[in-house]
Amino acid sequence: MSVSLTQSQLQIPNLGPRRVASPLELSTTLGDGRGNYMLDDMRLLYEPRLRAGEEPDLLSLEVGGPREQIFFRPEEVKAAIVTCGGLCPGLNNVIRGIVQELQYNYGVNHVLGIRHGYQGLNPAEGRPPIKLDAELVSSIHHQGGTILGTSRGPQEPRVTVDFLAAEGINLLFCIGGDGTQRGAHAIAAEISRRELPIAVIGIPKTIDNDIKFCYRTFGFFTAVAEAEIAIDRAHVEAKSVLNGVGLVKLMGREAGFIAAAATLASGEVNFCLIPEEPFQLEGEHGLLARLQHRLAAREHAVIVVAEGAGQHLLADRPRDCDASGNQRHGDIGYFLKTQIESFCRAEGVPVSVKYFDPSYQIRSVPATAVDSLLCERFARGAVHAGMAGKTDAMVALWHDQLVHVPLVVATGQKKQLDVEGELWGSVLAVTGQEKW
Ligand code: F6P
Repeated sequence: MSVSLTQSQLQIPNLGPRRVASPLELSTTLGDGRGNYMLDDMRLLYEPRLRAGEEPDLLSLEVGGPREQIFFRPEEVKAAIVTCGGLCPGLNNVIRGIVQELQYNYGVNHVLGIRHGYQGLNPAEGRPPIKLDAELVSSIHHQGGTILGTSRGPQEPRVTVDFLAAEGINLLFCIGGDGTQRGAHAIAAEISRRELPIAVIGIPKTIDNDIKFCYRTFGFFTAVAEAEIAIDRAHVEAKSVLNGVGLVKLMGREAGFIAAAATLASGEVNFCLIPEEPFQLEGEHGLLARLQHRLAAREHAVIVVAEGAGQHLLADRPRDCDASGNQRHGDIGYFLKTQIESFCRAEGVPVSVKYFDPSYQIRSVPATAVDSLLCERFARGAVHAGMAGKTDAMVALWHDQLVHVPLVVATGQKKQLDVEGELWGSVLAVTGQEKW
């Protein structure tokens, strides 16, 4: 993975010196059975791979985890949690983990839940926060969605910071995708301009898994598991009729991670179409001709298409953005269905296209065990970072370890699937699909 960053860009801002002893009663000595405080100069290499004879690249990320000395006195902390953007499995797990870690382990008793995303940080919207405690959140992790509600779009940072200051909130957790983290950075920048002791910590959420500097966002694997179910159903439909085509559209606005991973998990897909690899419809090597060959050979086919794929084929696609600033997309799934049907009609090939669009279904479910585990790690890691006075930073997963990434770096660009990499190579191998 190549990256054009300097070490100083990966430096995590701190609110100030840490003079408070952590109440966690961990140890700095390895192996004494009490768990460990993490040292601030502990770094994780960005790129651990090395070719023989090469100098290692020493670019590194700050390792997350509890610090022995913290910035905030627990009794002076008033924390707030906000969930933004589209739904994602695990939102409630993260809320629960943050509240529990704050209350049970750090002894913080003031935690607010901000209602309906960043809107709830603007008093003019008329959605006052609710008080959260460990009892209230004890079993919310079994439910999909977010108990706080969500919304898209930022608010004016000046208004938000006025609100935080007026409410006495000094630790803000922003759970969301790229747009949310950009919003969190804008809030942190306004706080810094006013020199206020308020920490802002981001937690990366998106089923699309498209956040840079984070191997895996929470919700992704749950979405893949649900998507696999839809693909398997589509396969059953396709096999049950002559020349059946199971066509499944999955979320993935600019990245095909869900489509690719669900394709691999299912093992029943013949064509996997993603935004990162433009495909052709017409011509000898186009999708329609390839599908015709497939139907002639096997009398059924399964196609998975990520919502952001093939947008260049849609003449009347939307040109505007949603409230989070994301480009809206046309319905590539329905477009493919109609194109396949008219092509087959013209070719005299009988076909029965069963179109599945499980988009919202795959993200409104509760988190699976793998995601619940990640949510727990992110939630507790975010609390440790915030209590230590880290700010303008996101917790992330890198080489399966918790790290801190500056928000400005994490939101600079979106992560996309590497079409030269192992994941896509496996998709090509499993589907038998050739490069376009
Ligand atoms: O969370 C990202 C995402 O799942 C995208 O893949 C999708 O385009 C978007 O959310 C749709 O969300 P909504 O319809 O709620 O704006």
